[in-house]
Amino acid sequence: MSTHKRIVVSSDHADIELRKTIAAHITERGWEVIDIGPMTSESTHYPIHGEAAAQRVASGDCQLGIIVCGTGQGIMMAANKVKGIRCGVCSDTFSARMIRQHNDANMLSIGARVVGEGLALDIVDAFLSAEFEGGRHATRVDMIKALEG
Ligand code: RB5
Repeated sequence: MSTHKRIVVSSDHADIELRKTIAAHITERGWEVIDIGPMTSESTHYPIHGEAAAQRVASGDCQLGIIVCGTGQGIMMAANKVKGIRCGVCSDTFSARMIRQHNDANMLSIGARVVGEGLALDIVDAFLSAEFEGGRHATRVDMIKALEG
């Protein structure tokens, strides 16, 4: 991973405040945060924001991405449709660590209506602190990549 740490964050309308809190937290950890909104809580459509964040990661503009919707599920499904994206929904820190270590996930999705703010920030920390272990896990991640065609 490059030494310049840039991460994209996005959400739908379910909880833009959690997204902003996550963005501030990540900034404190030394990352450059690209917050692509939305900037108001007006009802929107999570596929738009999942895809937009995923394109930033897939293009290499950002190394990682963190996205938020009500459950974390819909926005994750949209992000995973973009080639090169491996995004998992996490509601616990163990999973957040493991999707980096074993699955080389480049995006994390959080359900704002599932976890509270404190746990969400711990999940973010677990995700950002972990590194891909490679080895046998690289073989399996390559198999995922092969499914993309
Ligand atoms: C929006 O109400 C809600 O459906 C969305 O945030 C998300 O939970 C979808 O997966």
